[in-house]
Amino acid sequence: MSHDDYPTDHPAVVTCGLPYANGDLHIGHLRTYVSGDTLARSLRRLGQQTAFVSGSDMHGTPVAVNAEKKGVTPEEFALEYHETYAATFPEFGIEFDNYGHTHDDTNTELTREFVREWIENDHIYEKEIQVAWDPEVDQPLPDRFVEGTCPYCGEKARGDECDEGCQRHLEPGEIEDPVSTITGNPAEYRAREHEFLRLSDFQEYLKGFLGRLEGTDNARNQPKEWVEGELQDLCITRDMDWGIEYPGEGKEDLVLYVWVDAPIEYVASTKQYSERVGEEVFDWTEPWRDGDGELIHVIGRDIIQHHTVFWPSMLRGAGYNEPRAVMASGFVNLDGKAFSTSRNRAIWADDYLAEGFDPDLLRYYLVTTGGFQQDVDFSWERFQERVNGELVGNFGNFVYRSLLFAHRNFEGTPAADVSEEVLAEIDDAMEEFRDGLNDYSLREASQTGIRLSRFGNEYIQRNEPWKLVDENPEEAAQVIRDCVQLAKAAAVLLEPILPHAAERLWAQLEEGGSVHGARLKDCLDAPPENFGEPEALFEKVEDERVEALNEKLEERVDTANADANEEETVDDGGEDAPEAPTGLEPLSEDRIGFEEFQDLDVRVGEIELAEGIEGADDLARLEVNIGVETRQIVAGIKRLHDLDTLPGTRVVILANLEPAELFGVESNGMLLAAGEDADLLTTLGDSEPGTKIR
Ligand code: 2FM
Ligand code: ZN
Repeated sequence: MSHDDYPTDHPAVVTCGLPYANGDLHIGHLRTYVSGDTLARSLRRLGQQTAFVSGSDMHGTPVAVNAEKKGVTPEEFALEYHETYAATFPEFGIEFDNYGHTHDDTNTELTREFVREWIENDHIYEKEIQVAWDPEVDQPLPDRFVEGTCPYCGEKARGDECDEGCQRHLEPGEIEDPVSTITGNPAEYRAREHEFLRLSDFQEYLKGFLGRLEGTDNARNQPKEWVEGELQDLCITRDMDWGIEYPGEGKEDLVLYVWVDAPIEYVASTKQYSERVGEEVFDWTEPWRDGDGELIHVIGRDIIQHHTVFWPSMLRGAGYNEPRAVMASGFVNLDGKAFSTSRNRAIWADDYLAEGFDPDLLRYYLVTTGGFQQDVDFSWERFQERVNGELVGNFGNFVYRSLLFAHRNFEGTPAADVSEEVLAEIDDAMEEFRDGLNDYSLREASQTGIRLSRFGNEYIQRNEPWKLVDENPEEAAQVIRDCVQLAKAAAVLLEPILPHAAERLWAQLEEGGSVHGARLKDCLDAPPENFGEPEALFEKVEDERVEALNEKLEERVDTANADANEEETVDDGGEDAPEAPTGLEPLSEDRIGFEEFQDLDVRVGEIELAEGIEGADDLARLEVNIGVETRQIVAGIKRLHDLDTLPGTRVVILANLEPAELFGVESNGMLLAAGEDADLLTTLGDSEPGTKIR
């Protein structure tokens, strides 16, 4: 089954991975929600009916542990965070149609219905398993109550996930060398009866499903190897008090595993939305159950397995529709290192807002810096560079000068038809927006408006209307008419990513209504005849501000480090990647002579083509221009980079590596990249392809 391009005739549901209601939001969390919001707004722009939903993840061990530390009930603890999240998201323009939580009645009932369906359809069985147990406090140690070693990759693992290594989900009893996080004692194992969802029932189905799945390459490819091998069944119950009670008779001491009720909240949240607006406006059963629809999940890359293996099986087992797409983003790092929430080394959502920054600036940074699957590195310097260069210098500057000139000389939009050249430019931008979205490239779609204003700046410069206004007023009117249309089109195209700035621009143009309701075709509608004097859309970020922000951050980290011996809170587990220093390889003891270094022929290259190698999960075939010739190089970057965005990128190539054949394709040279994420090396200046690196 292949999917129709967006917009389709069926309602879409865009969901975002549920944040654990367990700690303050930082910009790592925001990456997912801003992306989901941008996607939902973009789809609506195309005319696709779309519900955008999510909710807080209230259950699970991290919530239970932290609540206990605070001396409150898990419900009180989680509800407080839930309310904070629900208030914070709109501050960043993240406008969910419904934001619920997993402990509410809708989700509780729906989750129990799902489980009853699985029982009825014979997908559930009971088994005695060995669960980790702390002998000192005489209690079971589900999930985050136990730490140890991942049996798959040997890295340190916490409870139910290998979050510092291979990212795999770990079943109870799988973790090696288990230690209790309550007492620090080695854990024992004890026999307990638990309920299992038989994932092997869905193995063949999943293979087909992954062939149909759209979204980012990492989400479509990574699970393929998991479903080819033996599929381990999923233990869906836990020995805990906090959670949704298992609905089977005589099992009242078991609650459902947090990963059962969490994704079901996607459905429950849509249902609540339907109940609020009426089924004639949005009928939740159409996308989820009885009809057709487009289900798109936006998540972080650490939860791909849950969304491409467990969740489709859960849906299938209960007779629900399958997801159309999963978009899995990389993490956000800070100055090249992973966030550490316990060390206060993060950019907190509240702090950002307290600085008085326009939320759109951060939205823009998070969505357009790097491909969706890549990690985004945040630094205040880079933030300043992108804001001042692209938003202030390019987009802001273009619309301000165009509207000011139009207002002063023509009191608004000059009476003329838009030129063929500019119409073609806007048409192309609309096409690219549509294509970007259909390729699940938010960056591509979001850049169309920026490219249009870059063209606009160049168009003004080329035509010099300030000279024409005396010499040839008619031509001046034509140029400014074109520019006002370009500004309006940019507002429509940029609304999904810059909703506040686009609305300000819409108001300056004295367009009626709101830009949020505009459709792509409105890019070509004539702007109002009259409008007043515009104001700058964005403020420049000054050097002193960046310095002050860096100082504040440093101070905060120092204070947190000084308090490091104080007990650490259990981490929220969602976004934190390991702190880089612990994972660094030791420096090599073996020194080499300069001559040996000179033997390496390292060159600047420019990628001309990048495509996946069929059948190989990781490998991509690149054609790289290294000045004297174009080389074919095979690199293990297929899952780590959005290949479509690579052409034009300057890279660094080891040119005199012996050719090798990989997956039947000759590789003639090596692409240099840093770390496990294959962060591509590039040049700071604009050295030409072929330039030797010394
Ligand atoms: O990993 C996490 O942060 C989880 N709270 C995400 C849940 S997403 C979903 F499927 F519900
Ligand atoms: Zn692992």
